[in-house]
Amino acid sequence: RTCILVGAPVDSGQRRPGCLMGPDAYRTAGLARVLADLGHKVDDLGNLTPASHNPDTGEGRLHRPNETIGWTHRLIRTAEQALGRGLPIFLGGDHSLSLGSVAGAANHAASRGRPLFVLWLDAHSDFHTPETTASGNLHGTPLGYVTGRGGFGGFPAITNPVPQRNICIVGLRSVDRPERAALQDTEIRYHDMREIDEFGIARPMAAFLEQVTAQNGMLHVSLDVDFLDPAIAPAVGTTVPGGATIREAHLVMEMICDSGLLSSLDLVELNPFLDERGRTAQLMVELTASALGRRVFDRPTRAYA
Ligand code: ARG
Ligand code: MN
Ligand code: MN
Ligand code: MN
Repeated sequence: RTCILVGAPVDSGQRRPGCLMGPDAYRTAGLARVLADLGHKVDDLGNLTPASHNPDTGEGRLHRPNETIGWTHRLIRTAEQALGRGLPIFLGGDHSLSLGSVAGAANHAASRGRPLFVLWLDAHSDFHTPETTASGNLHGTPLGYVTGRGGFGGFPAITNPVPQRNICIVGLRSVDRPERAALQDTEIRYHDMREIDEFGIARPMAAFLEQVTAQNGMLHVSLDVDFLDPAIAPAVGTTVPGGATIREAHLVMEMICDSGLLSSLDLVELNPFLDERGRTAQLMVELTASALGRRVFDRPTRAYA
């Protein structure tokens, strides 16, 4: 496949500086080489800048909304264009970049007459709107935006809302009260860590991927570093204990690969300033490799085969 690396050094969606270094950390960790070794063609677009926007004056209730609006314009356009010729991998940048990457992917899917499905791997549900967020951090709002919730005045209008039933969130362990109330009122599928502990991560993954296949969908995967346990992935501003293990995360990525459905991918919330000798960047690169074909054996091994 042609993997299109899109550097999106978005840092306006939250308040701890550092995510802007994410794209270069992935490059330093060897992402392009790893993908090329798997047989893919790699096209690195370099780092984007936001579309021109009004300055963010002072500190209102929302943190740097105009810059995030500029990024959203730029990323919608970039996602639409890149999906026309390959598999875009958005190198974040904080999770507000998904306002653009997912909205753009939805426009592309609609232009092909196919439904878009979104897999959200995250400790958080990011289902706020600018009106419901208590933190004012827009990285907590992308699923609210792309599903067409109100309150996003000033942002590009959503032309192709992602249907709630096409969204699956895995890894939840930190959901704000108003978010939880809104989420429980939707058809979004969500799986918290308790469910994963009790039944395993393969079950919800298999069910979701089957649904995407049955409807000939395109699949956008959004991988937030905080999906992973902070003990293995410390380079994130919003650490929540009790996250996915290395093995669970690789299994998710391998199942995505086996499904053959992946059409676009976000790697978000990496803050290299908080990393330990690059280990989080490295792990994110390894997980991307699993999503794009790296295997121990060509066929699954069986304990008693
Ligand atoms: N729900 C919290 C908020 O709105 C946390 C959001 C965390 N989002 C993320 N992309 N890490 O601020
Ligand atoms: Mn600016
Ligand atoms: Mn997130
Ligand atoms: Mn998160």
